[in-house]
Amino acid sequence: MIIGIPKEVKKDEYRVAITPAGVRELTSSGHIVHVEQGAGDGSSIRDAEYVSTGAKIIPDADEVWAAADMVLKVKEPVREEYHRLSLRNDQVLFTYLHLAASRECTDALVAAGNVAIAYETVRLPDNSLPLLTPMSEVAGRMAPLVASHHLMRPEGGRGTLVCGVPGVAAAKVVILGAGVAGMAAATLAVGLHANVTILDKNLERLRQVDHHFRGALETIASSTHAIEQQCADADIVIGAVLVVGARAPKLVSDDLVGRMRSGSVLVDISVDQGGCFESTRPTTHSNPTFSVHDSLFYCVANMPGAVPHSSTYALANATLPYTVELANRGWQEAAQLDPPLAEGVNVVHGSITCEPVADAHAMAYTPLHEVL
Ligand SMILES: NC(=O)c1ccc[n+]([C@@H]2O[C@H](COP(=O)([O-])OP(=O)(O)OC[C@H]3O[C@@H](n4cnc5c(N)ncnc54)[C@H](O)[C@@H]3O)[C@@H](O)[C@H]2O)c1
Repeated sequence: MIIGIPKEVKKDEYRVAITPAGVRELTSSGHIVHVEQGAGDGSSIRDAEYVSTGAKIIPDADEVWAAADMVLKVKEPVREEYHRLSLRNDQVLFTYLHLAASRECTDALVAAGNVAIAYETVRLPDNSLPLLTPMSEVAGRMAPLVASHHLMRPEGGRGTLVCGVPGVAAAKVVILGAGVAGMAAATLAVGLHANVTILDKNLERLRQVDHHFRGALETIASSTHAIEQQCADADIVIGAVLVVGARAPKLVSDDLVGRMRSGSVLVDISVDQGGCFESTRPTTHSNPTFSVHDSLFYCVANMPGAVPHSSTYALANATLPYTVELANRGWQEAAQLDPPLAEGVNVVHGSITCEPVADAHAMAYTPLHEVL
């Protein structure tokens, strides 16, 4: 199979869909890998590194798309890429798609007639989303770092050193949500020697967290009252809640922020689901914060975008086993043998095979088995 990896063209996207190790995995199985020239530049992976593991560098995106049996990307196709979707209707596109949020992209894929498999809907039997997890881990680990940075006075923060110093208390970090991102944030915050409290509605989850951290942090059952109590004297609040398929619940009101310490920093990782603070609005890496009362909000919707090198490797580590399966077996057999991967199949030759996507746009839904 020829596998094509174009350079990402979406604004501010610096990740790339494959690493040199992934190229080696595919070429050693007899596949041909075409990487667009400079595709790895944003992630600090040079063309020569891809060549050294067997890739061919192709100067032009159209050429990469036209030759490929399967195209690997990071982000959903954007308008300037739509004409490439219909170059070959036997082509498989494997990438983040988020089609429920974009009628335009859904229409483009339906019209193109190819096979589109979305990273974000690959789902394991325990309902976890293995190709979303790495990005929650990255964002979660980044949250205490960016918050500590913004807690410094020149950044507009309270002027508190997150780890404290002998004789002076460490910062209090409150984490809302003990899922993938919340646990990653807790790991870093504990590692920074902050005074950490984590809240979740799921008591079983809190038992696991308690067991994992062995007393290095406090776990509190989430309720309006508990959140108010914990946030009141926090230096840093990290929002990392998720209610699958729904907007994030608003857990921190402006009124509560008004009663918080001045110069406290609130990081809303859940911003991509609408955010869990009342005044959250998406921000960018070039202008990441804004003030609410005397506190600073950091609400960057693509936090992993700031660390594309790490994010590329984290994402590609998770996608590679599926990529190899798709390349070795072809998408039909791979989907038949691997039900979690089958859940990733969103569009097949003009039919929408992912029910939530069809529902989101009031379009017809075709169960996958009917097109297999
Ligand atoms: N901003 C970014 O760059 C970025 C990157 C990756 C992920 N995210 C987002 O981070 C969020 C968290 O993702 P995740 O993978 O950690 O999800 P997850 O499902 O692993 O964890 C979410 C947790 O929130 C808890 N929760 C739900 N409602 C709650 C409430 N009212 N009070 C307390 N806890 C509550 C759940 O019990 C669960 O443990 C998602 O919205 C995800 O899209 C953002």
